[in-house]
Order: sequence, then structure tokens, then C-alpha cells
Amino acid sequence: MATDSDAAPPQYDALASVYDLLWRVPAVHPLLPHLTSVVEKLAPASGASVLDLACGTGLGLRLMKRFGASTLVGVDISPQMLEIAKKLDPTLTVYTGDCTKPLDDLGLEPHGYDYVLGIWLLNYCPSSVEMAGMWANIGRYIKPGGKFVGIIENHDVAHPISVRTMKYGGMMSDVQELENGEGWSVHVVFDTQPPIEFDAFRLRGPILEAEAKKAGFGEIFYSKPTWEDVKVSVGEGIGGEDGKDEAWWTELIEHSPNYVIVATKEG
Ligand SMILES: C[S@@+](CC[C@H](N)C(=O)[O-])C[C@H]1O[C@@H](n2cnc3c(N)ncnc32)[C@H](O)[C@@H]1O
Repeated sequence: MATDSDAAPPQYDALASVYDLLWRVPAVHPLLPHLTSVVEKLAPASGASVLDLACGTGLGLRLMKRFGASTLVGVDISPQMLEIAKKLDPTLTVYTGDCTKPLDDLGLEPHGYDYVLGIWLLNYCPSSVEMAGMWANIGRYIKPGGKFVGIIENHDVAHPISVRTMKYGGMMSDVQELENGEGWSVHVVFDTQPPIEFDAFRLRGPILEAEAKKAGFGEIFYSKPTWEDVKVSVGEGIGGEDGKDEAWWTELIEHSPNYVIVATKEG
């Protein structure tokens, strides 16, 4: 009989100690100033409460803390990622959990959070069933009028040209149409030392949007990094000498592999 201990460890356990390196590759780095500017416009109130689903090493929670949030709770399927999150900021409260399923056992406060984050949360759904599970959790824990803020892989294009090669330090090496017709499975590789690789899914936009609507969210807003965000990255030495040439960044900006997503829970 299969038991829990027979289950393979979450794929991110093995990546935890090196995971944050991926935020330094050109394919990803401009997302950080972009996400920061989106959060700044949302103007979190001092003392805001934040639940970060798929919090990983806690980058999103630390960002919200910089904006004055004071209740900082993270959930992730990988205990090793959570261990790093706690090392980086011992004030975080973290729980191990699978966000595709009800999180009732964790004792989180229903409708208790001003913000729910999902920074590459929604890319771990092989079908609309898991997508519905994730949105059910987002809807259950967010306050009425609260904001969901996240990052997703670009769900409009099967294989964005900016990540068909390693030009920007990150590549989707294997994009396969899912048998259920709902999107694609992808293998993602980063040119870090050591290399970081993982498997993920991208369901089509209308599937994500239908499940968000069922969970009580209104219109979804998508945005992507701009030239201003690239300037911040270049200023931090990302992209090397070549990266200082505007033309070098054009493919990444025009064919962004990721979107920032914001949705508001109806009151
Ligand atoms: C690309 S990482 C993002 C981590 C963090 N949000 C960040 O941006 O740095 C994806 C995270 O999702 C977590 N994850 C994957 N599937 C999950 C699930 N079903 N429930 C909870 N966490 C999950 C992984 O363990 C990993 O930490």
C-alpha cells in the first residue's frame, strides 16, 4: 500500500538552497522592479496582513514587509523552501501545504488577509480542477475588497520566443500541449551555477479567469516589465555589457515570458 512517505519529495526541496539565484537572471530580474511598482501603486496600508501561497523562500512576504505589512504568513508544498524563508526572516509564519487542496488544517483565518500573493503559484495546475482548488483558497482567505497579486507565466503564447533559447539566462526547453487541451506542460531551465530546472504548467487564460470568477474575483489586470524595469536591472549589473544595449533586451520586453497579475475580491 502506498503511504505518504512513498511520495516523491516536492521538486523544489532539492532546489531550495540555490533557488533565489534565478531572480538574478535577465529573463526574470526586471519582474522584480515591475512587481514592486505594482505593489507600490496598490499602496498597502501600514499593518496590512498578507498570505503568500507558494511563498517559496519568502521573497513576496519580504517585499510586502518593506511596504509596512505586519502579518506575514506563507504556505508552500516544499518544507525546504520554507526552511530558507524562515532563515531569511524569522518573523514569517510558514506552513507546509498543497495549495490545490483545502488548507483548512492550517488554522488560517478565513477572509482574514488584505493581500493574497501567488508568485508563480498558478503554474502548478495540470488541469482546471487544481486551478479551481487554488482560486478557492485565494477566495476563502482574502478579505472582501482584498487584492490578489501574483506572477504567472505568459498564458497567451505556447512558447514565447524570448525563452526559446538561453539568451536571457532562462529557457522553456520542452513545451507540450496537455492531453486535456487546457494548456501546456513546460520544463524550465535557468543558466545559473548550479543550473536550476523544474517542471510547471500553463493553463490558457480563459481557464484561469473562469476559476477566478467562480471564486468571487472581478476583472483581472495583467502587466509586464517595461523599459523602466530593465533600466533598474541594468543598473544592478544584470545582463552584462551586452545588456547595456537596448536592442539586446527588445525580445524579452516584447515577448515577455511572465505577467504580473492583479485581481480584486468582490465585496
Ligand atoms: C517558482 S517557485 C516561486 C517561489 C516564490 N513564490 C518566489 O517567487 O520566489 C514555485 C513555488 O511553488 C511551490 N509549489 C508548487 N506547487 C505547489 C502547491 N501545489 N502548493 C503549494 N506550493 C506549491 C514550490 O514548492 C515553489 O516554492
